Parts: sequence; C-alpha cells; structure tokens
Amino acid sequence: MEFVIKGGKPLHGETAIAGAKNAALGLLAASIMADEDVFVRNIPDVSDVNTLLEAIADTGARVKRISRHEVLMNGSSIRSFIVNNRYIRRMRAGYYMLGALLGKYHYAEVALPGGCTIGSRPIDQHLKGFEALGAKTSIRNSMVLVEASELHGSNIYFDTVTVGATINVMMAAVFAKGRTVLENAAREPHVVDVANFLNSMGARIKGAGTDVIRIDGVQKLHGTDYSVIPDQIEAGTFMAAAAATRGNVLVKNVIPKHLECISQKLREIGCEVQEYDDSVRVIAENRPLRSAKIKTLPYPGFPTDMQPQIAVVLATARGTSTVNETIFENRFKYVDELNRMGTNISVEGNIAIITGVPELKGAQLVAPDLRAGAALVIAALAADGESVVEEINYILRGYEDFVEKLQLLGGSIGLAESEEEARKFFLKAGIV
Ligand code: UD1
Repeated sequence: MEFVIKGGKPLHGETAIAGAKNAALGLLAASIMADEDVFVRNIPDVSDVNTLLEAIADTGARVKRISRHEVLMNGSSIRSFIVNNRYIRRMRAGYYMLGALLGKYHYAEVALPGGCTIGSRPIDQHLKGFEALGAKTSIRNSMVLVEASELHGSNIYFDTVTVGATINVMMAAVFAKGRTVLENAAREPHVVDVANFLNSMGARIKGAGTDVIRIDGVQKLHGTDYSVIPDQIEAGTFMAAAAATRGNVLVKNVIPKHLECISQKLREIGCEVQEYDDSVRVIAENRPLRSAKIKTLPYPGFPTDMQPQIAVVLATARGTSTVNETIFENRFKYVDELNRMGTNISVEGNIAIITGVPELKGAQLVAPDLRAGAALVIAALAADGESVVEEINYILRGYEDFVEKLQLLGGSIGLAESEEEARKFFLKAGIV
C-alpha cells in the first residue's frame, strides 16, 4: 500500500485533531492499574494504540472497544505479566506495561521496545528509576524483567529529560510506599495527561508539567472516566502542511498553549497564526516565507516529533535555515528523499542546513519513520507533479484518517494498493 499524491494545491479548510497518541499509550497502560472499570475517551484510532490494546488484552485485562474512540478497560482479570515481542516490536510504548505491571503486581516481563529507528533509544533511565524504587531489573533474551518484593518511594534524578522514563517510573511509584520525587522530569503535555488520569483514579501526583514531580504512594486505584488531550504533533503536522502548501487551514480541537512553540516558529517564518480557544488558523497564502533557526528541545521547546515537518516548510522558504536535532541522533533519514524532490539540504552531524528553493518536484519516496513519513507527504502535497510515498505503515501508526483529512482540505491524495490503482489515481487527477 502506498500514498499517491498530486501536489501543487494549497490546503484550505478545517480539520479536527484526534486524541494524542503518546498520551493515550501512557494512560491506556496505566488503566490496568485499577481493578474497576476505566473509561477512556478520545483515543485515536491509530495502529500504535490498537497494538497496545491487543497487548493489554493478552494479559487477561478486559479491553472493550465501546466505539471507535472509546474503550472500557478493567485490570481485575489480569492473569499474565508478560508482554511479548509479537506486539512490542511494532511500537515503542509497550514499555509502559513495565511501570504499570511492576507497580501493581511487582513483576513484569516486557520485550525490548521497537518503534521508529530514529536513534539508539536506550531504556537505562527507566531501569534506573525502577531500581531506585526497590526493583531488580535484568534483560534476558530480549525481554526486560523487573521485579520487587516491595516498592518504596525514592528521590530519582533523571540524567536526561525523558518522556518515557518519566511516565513509566511515575506509574510504578503510584503504588510505592511513601513519597517519590522525580527530578529533571519531562514536562510534555502527555506526561501531565497521564498524571491527571492517574489522579482521577485516586493517585496522588503533584507537579506534573514542571521538572519536579512528587508522588505519594497509594494502596489502590479506582475506576474513572477520562478523555485524552488532543494530539499536539498531529496538530503541528497540519499546521506545517498549511504553511508548506501556502494554504489557509483552521486546525480544530487543539490546546493552543501546547502548540505555542510551533505557532511562534511559523510566525517567524512568515505565516499568520491566529489562536482561538480550542483551534488555531495558519495562513500562508501569498506570503513569502523566510528562513529560521530550529533547535529541538524537550517541552516547552520545539518538539523533535515536528522536526521533519518544519524542515519541509523551510525547504521552500527564502534564505538558509538550520535545523539542530538534539534529542535523537538519527532523525535526518528523510533528507535524501527530499533532495530527490529538488530541495537543497545538507546534513552536518546533528544539524541540517536548508537553503530554500522556489519549488519542489514530485518523486517516488520511501517513508523512513512515522514523522518523517508525514513530512514527505507534506512535501509531496506542496510539490509540483505526482509523488508516491511507500512504507506508509509508519505513518498509519500515528495519524488517524490522514488521507481523508488531507482530502477534505483539498489535497489530491489517495491510497493505492497496486500500480494499476496508482495509475488510475493519477489519470483521474489529470496528470498522466
Ligand atoms: C517519546 C515519544 C516520541 C518523542 C520523544 C521525545 C512516545 C511513545 N514517544 O519517546 O514520539 O519523539 O518522546 O519527545 O511517547 N533516553 C535515554 N535513556 C532512557 C530514555 C531516553 O538516554 O532511558 C534518551 C533518548 O535516547 C533520547 C532522549 O532521552 O535522546 C529523549 O527520549 P524519550 O523522551 O525517552 O523518548 P521516548 O519516550 O522514547
């Protein structure tokens, strides 16, 4: 399956953003920590979330899909504390089952995480946190084992700002005796969402959203009814798509505060960004876009998950931009693909140097990972002519109804299962 795209049309109209994938992954894992019914609403229908739900169901927990975006979870029927490779190799966030199961049952065995190959992605900080809570950890046959006779509160300083370890250790600490303090904690909106979710189940977590999180252990959690926050990165991707195609798009169902850094950068580049209570409008039509300097940083800095998409915007902006990737060391794999579309990008170490070109040309492209894949789709929509984007399973891991949403904005994009279907699409699009 591939995306077929006839580019060159500015995107116009409105789009509504789904629930945040990365928040949903954390709080769905956390939901098994209660033995009562937990309703989770606004979950995105994307393959990473669906894979995690399958993995959770495999432990024996009750997982009932009430509707496309709502699920009922209940951890009282869990019989297995093992999450195997079948699920985890397809994504990264399976590691959240370590914190959730360790906290509740003092034992977990979870396959080493997979996910996008954007860097080495170690889990040493997760293990360090679990050990500080009193757990023994080991890695055997690609499985991570964590076990404890009891968990006790502890002071933990993370050596690096890590979303995954912050959420994972926070979950385990919910059932630890006494107080745990996480310092140098990640401040991402999804960390706050998972903390709010756990608190709605009776946990006692304070300070999420700052770099010091305090958790006072409790003995059990109760059921809840909770709605996941909107996806900051999906929203940012559509904002970048509006900018790159010189369009005008209202991105609805967002928390503008979470998008502040992206909005500011787009303004600096020359777009108009209007903020409303729960939407943002990006206007780039008939505007000369200019270069900018981007440096990815933990929240509230510029998100690494938006780095490839903003690079596409800069690829046709006047002047020379730099994009400095400080979080993951292997996140420029899309640059060769873009250069085949006529961009002028070179990479030196962890910095991409982008000299804007007046236009992009369609090309045959391969998505190297989730966000870079989305960036290539944006580039193809902005480019003159036809493009094909292969390896789209990466993209479907994190974007709900990506094609349909882009089509509603006037994007000429389709899904093709065969060359014949691709030919038909391009014929219809008036190209061939
Ligand atoms: C999460 C997001 C991912 C996003 C990333 C950074 C999920 C499922 N994924 O990934 O989309 O790109 O945050 O915002 O939420 N590190 C260590 N040791 C560890 C853990 C991390 O050195 O034990 C390093 C990583 O190599 C990286 C940095 O810390 O350089 C940040 O990683 P982290 O925030 O943990 O990313 P993930 O949770 O994997």
